Amino acid sequence: MSIIEQNRKFMHCPSFKEGMAQSDQSKEVSAPPFHNAREGEAIVLPAFTGNFTTPSYADLLDIRRSLRNYADKPMTQQELAFMLWSAQGIQFTRAHSSLRPTPSGGARHPFETYIAVRSVEGLEAGLYHYVPQEDIGEKHATIWKKSDAIAPEKITEMLAGQKWAEKAPVVLFYTCVPYRAEWRYVNMAHRVMLIDLGHLGQNAMLSAAALGMGSCCMAAFDQGACDSVLALDGINEYTVYAIAVGTAEAAK
Ligand SMILES: Cc1cc2nc3c(=O)[nH]c(=O)nc-3n(C[C@H](O)[C@H](O)[C@H](O)COP(=O)(O)O)c2cc1C
Repeated sequence: MSIIEQNRKFMHCPSFKEGMAQSDQSKEVSAPPFHNAREGEAIVLPAFTGNFTTPSYADLLDIRRSLRNYADKPMTQQELAFMLWSAQGIQFTRAHSSLRPTPSGGARHPFETYIAVRSVEGLEAGLYHYVPQEDIGEKHATIWKKSDAIAPEKITEMLAGQKWAEKAPVVLFYTCVPYRAEWRYVNMAHRVMLIDLGHLGQNAMLSAAALGMGSCCMAAFDQGACDSVLALDGINEYTVYAIAVGTAEAAK
């Protein structure tokens, strides 16, 4: 079977019953944790308390546009906290799941958020991991430093040659932890995760617009390079989405 045929097949699971059969959940295997281990130094970014620049929700939908030209303007810690929360913050938990501003099939939320910080006020440039279980019900954001700043040319390599992204003050990298979804959805889990990612991305992008910034989501990234920089094994966790965020450069 060609890779295209295989990929079509995973998007097409005609029998819901067969797709769901024999899940670890139905076998009463304990649910995996809804978050990964955190390590390193924890930093709490304060909750956003400013005013949103967008006058109405309809206007927000109108102004969201992919942005690839970023001004040399740092993001504030509050803005970053809001961006992180709006896509993956945890509002509350249930027995083996978490409820967040984005919907997720079976409330599995099989994603992790990593942040390549180039320019955020009062925050060292570096690679950080957002750990929302530290902040349940809150809008501040606890992030854990993973490593020093990623060199601009490395960002370009991770993003498959998209050099414009080097100027973004922040690039968000979202990874998936497939078993969190497979535990419930087995063969259908991968289709469900793709749908989930669209919601997460749209929340992040509308939030950037609401904060008076712009963003560009990216599917063109080098998964191997991203996984290597984020120190992922590429099997149990791998990169699935990237979003650059920042303020638009003034028109010349
Ligand atoms: C799944 C997905 C992947 C995308 N990947 C890239 C990308 O790698 N690089 C890029 O510059 N734009 C990327 N885009 C942005 C699209 O080019 C953009 O959304 C489209 O041209 C429509 O423009 P708009 O976002 O301003 O409405 C992507 C958009 C989506 C939804």
